[in-house]
Amino acid sequence: MNELHPDLSRIVVSTDQIQSRVKELADQISADFVGGERLYIIGILKGAFIFLADLTRHLKVPHTVDFMALSSYGKTTTSGAVRILMDLREPIEGQHVIIVEDIVDTGHTLHYLNRVLKGRKPASLRSCVLVRKQRDNLSVPIDYLGFDIPDVWVVGYGLDFADQYRTLPYIAELKRE
Ligand code: PRP
Repeated sequence: MNELHPDLSRIVVSTDQIQSRVKELADQISADFVGGERLYIIGILKGAFIFLADLTRHLKVPHTVDFMALSSYGKTTTSGAVRILMDLREPIEGQHVIIVEDIVDTGHTLHYLNRVLKGRKPASLRSCVLVRKQRDNLSVPIDYLGFDIPDVWVVGYGLDFADQYRTLPYIAELKRE
């Protein structure tokens, strides 16, 4: 059992719940792509780095890992403008791609990524998201989802507040003050 950080009010998804669900998601992906071509796994920085590291170490199928970094204004404006800060190293044309995200909040980031990456003509494009907030968001389809969570500010397991708390092993609600 992990001790709760004093800035946090409650655990939303525990370390054990995360670890067993991440393994289940990796098993599901491995089963779906067994006997197939190498997967191209894209982690969206910064938030996805811990989820991606755990997920990929459970995969039983060949895969390549790459990263993108995006800047999003989706939480403070209704425009949901997203911009690429760092792009992939290689073209993904003809590849079986899985986007790995820590969270879908408004849905603007995943919606944007789907549009941009589809335009690069991958053989297939799927998404794997650890948590989705239950709120008014763009209903972007998610192929592999860890958990639906309440619409509260959560940190831990990659998720941050002002770049803090990313390395906590659980996901917890931040105190309001
Ligand atoms: C977070 C998260 C997703 C995005 C989801 O990234 O990692 O990429 O927000 O939000 P949305 O569904 O409202 O678009 P953030 O912009 O906080 O950057 P970070 O990953 O570097 O913390």
